[in-house]
Amino acid sequence: MVKICCIGAGYVGGPTMAVIALKCPSIEVVVVDISVNRINSWNSDQLPIYEPGLDDVVKECRGRNLFFSTDVEKHVYEADIIFVSVNTPTKTRGLGAGKAADLTYWESAAWMIADVSKSDKIVVEKSTVPVKTAEAIEKILNHNSKGIHFSILSNPEFLAEGTAIQDLLKPDRVLIGGRETPEGQKAVQALKEVYAHWVPEDRIIISNLWSAELAKLVANAFLAQRISSVNAVSALCEATGADVTEVAYSVGKDSRIGPKFLNASVGFGGSCFQKDILNLVYICESNGLAEVANYWKQVIKINDYQKNRFVNRVVSSMFNTVSGKKIAVLGFAFKKDTGDTRETPAIDVCKGLLGDNATISIYDPRVTEDQIQRDLAMNKFDWDHPIHLQSLSPTSVKKVRVTWDAYEAANGAHGVCILTEWDEFKQLDYQRIYDNMQKPAFIFDGRNVIDPEKLREIGFIVYSIGRPLNPWLKNLSAAS
Ligand SMILES: NC(=O)c1ccc[n+]([C@@H]2O[C@H](COP(=O)([O-])OP(=O)(O)OC[C@H]3O[C@@H](n4cnc5c(N)ncnc54)[C@H](O)[C@@H]3O)[C@@H](O)[C@H]2O)c1
Repeated sequence: MVKICCIGAGYVGGPTMAVIALKCPSIEVVVVDISVNRINSWNSDQLPIYEPGLDDVVKECRGRNLFFSTDVEKHVYEADIIFVSVNTPTKTRGLGAGKAADLTYWESAAWMIADVSKSDKIVVEKSTVPVKTAEAIEKILNHNSKGIHFSILSNPEFLAEGTAIQDLLKPDRVLIGGRETPEGQKAVQALKEVYAHWVPEDRIIISNLWSAELAKLVANAFLAQRISSVNAVSALCEATGADVTEVAYSVGKDSRIGPKFLNASVGFGGSCFQKDILNLVYICESNGLAEVANYWKQVIKINDYQKNRFVNRVVSSMFNTVSGKKIAVLGFAFKKDTGDTRETPAIDVCKGLLGDNATISIYDPRVTEDQIQRDLAMNKFDWDHPIHLQSLSPTSVKKVRVTWDAYEAANGAHGVCILTEWDEFKQLDYQRIYDNMQKPAFIFDGRNVIDPEKLREIGFIVYSIGRPLNPWLKNLSAAS
């Protein structure tokens, strides 16, 4: 029986391995992690991450051919194929700080694999890593090889949180990069056979190692670029009276462009887009390509601009200050159908409002109070490190309350900000919300989920990103 071990039981390692176990009953899959809490949750009824469909897949396979364990070394020792799916944060200090990928966790996993292995292994990069990481990993593994052969493959993950299980069951493509040597190609075939249990052959792409590593960074850069492009256009729409939803619809109908990722919003978030683009920028700079680096940097700059612009709209609309005012924040996760808050725009928006001395009341259907308080007290980039390495500053969080109900969050509020596109926000009784708010009652829709005209009829002053402005807002600047 082929044995797979995956190091890292996170948003990628957990769902990916669960689907491999589901589709390959003849393969034993063990997911290991140094976090005892995470492994305990994976072995309980309360999985550590929320992902539609994940519970069912885990229930079907756990204890059959899917296992979660903290005994990292034992399972690495026993495995034929080792996936490494550990976190690869942005460096916060030293060379490349604020841009380059911090490979500490990856490197320590590689040293451990080298130390405990007693038989040939295929080591698969599942984490998103800079180009040429495989070369460094090869050096670590072979340095200590004791005659053991390690084949390194790059198999980046393209799943999106919120739709991870569907993405894994029906991937657009699976990408496998390997060395062009006979051993390298043998390893590629072995991994291909795993995916071939359920992925059609024409969707499994084989490439060289560096193309596979780079393709992942470029795919995320392209996706984020679409969001920044439509967000840049949203500012122009507000200035001209055009409606970004109409512009995006017309543009997306062009089959060369397509309709996806064209929703204007308060900005993109998540653990990957910013980190991977910064990483790409750093690689360009390291290769002397300053113009290319600046081109991609602009995608992040527009994202920061969009978040600032949103905060400025809120503050300038409410008589140029939110000091002492209650603002309800609906949605904190970086997108719907996930409880993930890593790099969510809600953090920057809340920090901006707190900076102007607002009191904030937050409701999100999937994010806990503890997580929100940690996020608001944490320094930039610290979220991608283990909890004991995160520095917290308990500055403004006293002005934050977390509720388990949208109506309670909005009760007595001066303004409501919608920051995640949860479906339930479309169904709320906005008349009830309006009746219990201070007047004039403001609503700032950072995801274009509500119908602005209906809310204006109720009496709200409405701001919807990129859409014709309420007369109240017309001459108020949102530029920083
Ligand atoms: N989240 C996504 O949507 C997504 C999508 C595609 C790719 N990726 C990439 O996949 C990688 C993992 O992302 P994630 O979101 O799953 O991260 P995560 O933080 O949720 O999970 C990483 C896990 O690795 C564990 N870990 C770290 N060092 C370890 C070690 N030496 N031994 C055992 N366990 C160790 C951590 O405890 C953590 O539980 C990153 O490189 C990320 O860029 C993420």
